[in-house]
Amino acid sequence: MSERLEDIAQAMVADGKGILAADESTGTIKKRFDSIGVESTEENRRDYREMLFRADDAMKNCISGVILFDETLRQKAADGTPLVDLIKAAGAVPGIKVDAGAKDMPGFPGEKITEGLDGLRDRLKEYHGLGARFAKWRAVIDIADGIPSWGCVKANAHALARYAALCQEAGIVPIVEPEVLMDGPVAAHDADRCYQVTEWALNTVFDELFEQRVLLEGMVLKPNMVISGKNASRQASAEEVAEKTVRCLKSTVPAAVPGIAFLSGGQSDEEATRHLSLMNAMGPLPWKLTFSYGRALQAAALKAWGGKTENVAAAQSAFSHRARMNGLAAAGKWSADQEKQAA
Ligand code: 13P
Repeated sequence: MSERLEDIAQAMVADGKGILAADESTGTIKKRFDSIGVESTEENRRDYREMLFRADDAMKNCISGVILFDETLRQKAADGTPLVDLIKAAGAVPGIKVDAGAKDMPGFPGEKITEGLDGLRDRLKEYHGLGARFAKWRAVIDIADGIPSWGCVKANAHALARYAALCQEAGIVPIVEPEVLMDGPVAAHDADRCYQVTEWALNTVFDELFEQRVLLEGMVLKPNMVISGKNASRQASAEEVAEKTVRCLKSTVPAAVPGIAFLSGGQSDEEATRHLSLMNAMGPLPWKLTFSYGRALQAAALKAWGGKTENVAAAQSAFSHRARMNGLAAAGKWSADQEKQAA
């Protein structure tokens, strides 16, 4: 595969395909395993992820790239094959989460700043050697009374841009992820409030990317959708979510960016698919719109697996089903009928 940043970025948003976010940190994957009563050992984490990467139907037809956690990038399958090689063999690009997590921001109660810039240049060099061709850094923007603050939006955008510049220097495509969370506590956190904050965050991020001389053609944006908060008194319809999200992105994301790959952020599997499909059906759009889902791609597979070898085939087919539905959504061709027929 070409090593040019622009070509890698294009491959990550190839038609009808999207990204599998399987980069849960050790703490997050433990929470996921707890939900199915499986102990989070290194071997169980390996077995679970190996199962996903060996789901050929999903991986070859619907998945363009996989985001890994540090441990997984170094792990070998049960038969000794490096997990990275399974991903490459399926024709997908291996990626790596490189941020060190969102930590409490000093002086800004209730807000977070993502850490991980120190030593990043050396880590990226090593990750490139291990096969990673793209990376992910997630900034977290909360909505609450008086939050987010300018200080938090600005600091997170700056860190994203510094990270993106370091990635490109290392020949790695940065996924730039400023996530406006949907689980804020306030009832006034409706889709319009989410729109305002997302627009603000994205404008600030693109200012910072410009100042840090980041090549827009060699990056992928991973935003939230413009959606009502979990506790909002009014929940926007799927059509409203699609319309507001596309409008917000059109007003903030330059057309030079090859693609936008959404996070699912706590939406149900089917909601995340429906929203993506509605947006793509609103085309033509200046960039590709696809998925980079974690929970919304894995939830059904995780449940079907339950930590048991005898369930591997069922879990793989649950994953393949979800991946196919999202592949259709990336082309604007998903429908509830198809969901039922294919299930
Ligand atoms: P979710 O789709 O579960 O939000 O995860 C995507 C991701 O990678 C968040 O950083």
